[in-house]
Amino acid sequence: MPVSNGERLLQTENSLKLIPHVLVAALAVAAGSALAQAYPNRPVTLVVPFAAGGPTDVVARTVGQAMSRSLGQSVVIENKLGAGGTIAAGYVAKAAPDGYTILIHHNGMATAPALYRKLSFNPLTDFEYVSQVVDVPMTMLGRKDLPPNTLQELIPYVKANADKLNLAHAGLGAVSHLCGMVFRQAIGAELQTVPYQGTAPAMNALLGGQVDLLCDQTTQTIPHIKAGSVKFYGVTTSGRIKALPQSPTLEEQGLKGFQVVVWHGIYAPKGTPAAALEKINAAVRFALKDPVVQQRMAELGAEIVPDAKLTPEGLRTWLQAETDRYGPMIRSAGAFAD
Ligand code: MLT
Repeated sequence: MPVSNGERLLQTENSLKLIPHVLVAALAVAAGSALAQAYPNRPVTLVVPFAAGGPTDVVARTVGQAMSRSLGQSVVIENKLGAGGTIAAGYVAKAAPDGYTILIHHNGMATAPALYRKLSFNPLTDFEYVSQVVDVPMTMLGRKDLPPNTLQELIPYVKANADKLNLAHAGLGAVSHLCGMVFRQAIGAELQTVPYQGTAPAMNALLGGQVDLLCDQTTQTIPHIKAGSVKFYGVTTSGRIKALPQSPTLEEQGLKGFQVVVWHGIYAPKGTPAAALEKINAAVRFALKDPVVQQRMAELGAEIVPDAKLTPEGLRTWLQAETDRYGPMIRSAGAFAD
């Protein structure tokens, strides 16, 4: 059908009117993908809730260094200490949700809501979940000159000297505190406790003989156990571990049901863009496939979690399950931090 000059003009005008919308939409898509491509264009801060040189710090630095190769940017470790790890978690919950501030934390994310009635954040609603990382056994240690050499000798010794002995830990919400509580309950003895801002300073106190007992993660304790600079009474897992194959568990030595395993997760503030979360998750996976990371973790007794846990959902569902497990236990024990 012939088109008149007037109609042609109208069609041209209409398509010209369309151009700005098409352009805006195209530019928006381009800008979005440019932003996604641009992330990260500066260092990413990985916040560690405990002291430098301690177990969480060792995992963060080992994994973070390998993550930086995947991200193309440094992963900078920031140790934010205090209140059993809750200062760091609260800080990250309120950080800008831009993918440049992330958190590594352990079981403390699940115990904090029951321990701290005035918690400034909600672990189940104030974060984006990136991935789980590694599971780490714990070990029950004494200072080198503590008289008992075995768990069988330690239990009556602690019961007889409970008022003179103390147990170091990294604050309420720290796994060293949790393990100490489980130990005291298992042997039926009260012990004085001494809080530090991480088990790195707690270990220094044990090595220096200022404290008597410490339950701490293999990521820090294996070198000291191998060097013989501490008394070692057993591992807290249900079975023996590859890194210490000759060492019995506390359970096989008679403390039935004694099991404490430390799990780690990486979190970002709620609202962090999906594109950034995907890159951080890919970087964690990349790091955990790195043979250097795998060897270091194996030497330190840490077990890289299976692929199904290397997902946001894997971390979120685990955190929920652990919160449901610990919450009632802590509330019924009446153990409050505030
Ligand atoms: C640390 O890194 O110091 C420990 O993970 C603290 C703790 O016992 O939870």
